[in-house]
Amino acid sequence: MDRILVTGGAGFIGSNFVLYALERWRDAHVVVLDKLTYAGNLENLQGARDNPRFAFIRGDIADEEVVRRAMDGCDVVINFAAETHVDRSILFPKEFVLTDVVGTFTLLEVARELGASKFVQVSTDEVYGSIDEGAFDEIAALEPSSPYSASKAGGDLLTLAYAKTFDAPALVARSTNNYGPYQYPEKLVPLFITNALDDKPLPVYGDGRQVRDWLHVRDNCEALALLLERGEPGVVYNVAGGCELENVDVTKRILKILGKGEDLITYVKDRPAHDRRYALSCERIKALGWNPQTSFDVGLEETVGWYGEHEDWWRPLKGEAFDEYYRRQYGGR
Ligand code: NAD
Ligand code: DAU
Repeated sequence: MDRILVTGGAGFIGSNFVLYALERWRDAHVVVLDKLTYAGNLENLQGARDNPRFAFIRGDIADEEVVRRAMDGCDVVINFAAETHVDRSILFPKEFVLTDVVGTFTLLEVARELGASKFVQVSTDEVYGSIDEGAFDEIAALEPSSPYSASKAGGDLLTLAYAKTFDAPALVARSTNNYGPYQYPEKLVPLFITNALDDKPLPVYGDGRQVRDWLHVRDNCEALALLLERGEPGVVYNVAGGCELENVDVTKRILKILGKGEDLITYVKDRPAHDRRYALSCERIKALGWNPQTSFDVGLEETVGWYGEHEDWWRPLKGEAFDEYYRRQYGGR
């Protein structure tokens, strides 16, 4: 690994991955290409800024010219860039198609032209849809429910088609819900921690009994690094935290860590087409020697502590525009 292109490297998982990669591969250069949407934040990359092996380019993954400039000289590519929030995809689906489908296509095309030796498409358990019992393996059919998951499925299918048609050394990693530092406070864990810190209501959708499988972002970074090194082209790898919990259970754990009362829990209108449960089996990546290392109890406590100590990071992100977005979606919080 000489020079890695990390697209979407200013977002939550991408920035954690950049810091991790600079440590793991001590001779490698890391180039980030990021559009800096509302979810991208250069503060997330503060720990890399002064590293001579790090470079940042602002640009859109759907812009062929800027992608060519960023990818030139890179031997491997990992694509985190995406519109990622399900609720926003219900309000503004077009951005999701443009970035998650057309953007991924553009990256694949330029990677083919420049001859990248590995391409990892970072994807999600949501492409399989909901499952009441058991778990999806990597050959399960795709049944996405939201414009977000449908767009991610489009990106995945293009990646796999490029591997088949053009022998592109491209593969797909699908993980369960990540949590940890630098997650934008629109997602369940950081939204509820930061609301609870301010004694604001925690808006639980529907009956709150939907199940997600929680994976610490550091464990996902390790899985993705392993796939950059040893993943097989044309193959899908599931990455699961192995910690299934109902949303209301996660909510109560956050309140307990912060010593806040459960009266902050507020049940609100459900998300349309809300998937009831996600669950993955991930034997393929386990066969490469990967296993999640962080228990949810430890990881959640650490994450709550991080948000408590980084108010200067999240307070500016929870301004008026953010509140307005939630008022439109859920009628006020
Ligand atoms: P995020 O929303 O925190 O960050 C996305 C990043 O992509 C931001 O920095 C944003 O500026 C950038 N971006 C968006 N559109 C772009 C474009 N057109 N060109 C260049 N950059 C653009 O997302 P995240 O939670 O870190 O997720 C990263 C990836 O992991 C996504 O592909 C997502 O689908 C996938 N994923 C996330 C989770 C999760 O729990 N967060 C779980 C499974 C998979
Ligand atoms: O499963 C992987 C996916 O996890 C990623 O692909 C997505 O990018 C990421 O956003 C996440 O999607 P979810 O929809 O599962 O995450 P979110 O944090 O939005 O919601 C988690 C659960 O909590 C979900 O069942 C909806 C619920 N929820 C969420 C919010 C923001 C609430 O009850 N209230 C809320 O305010």
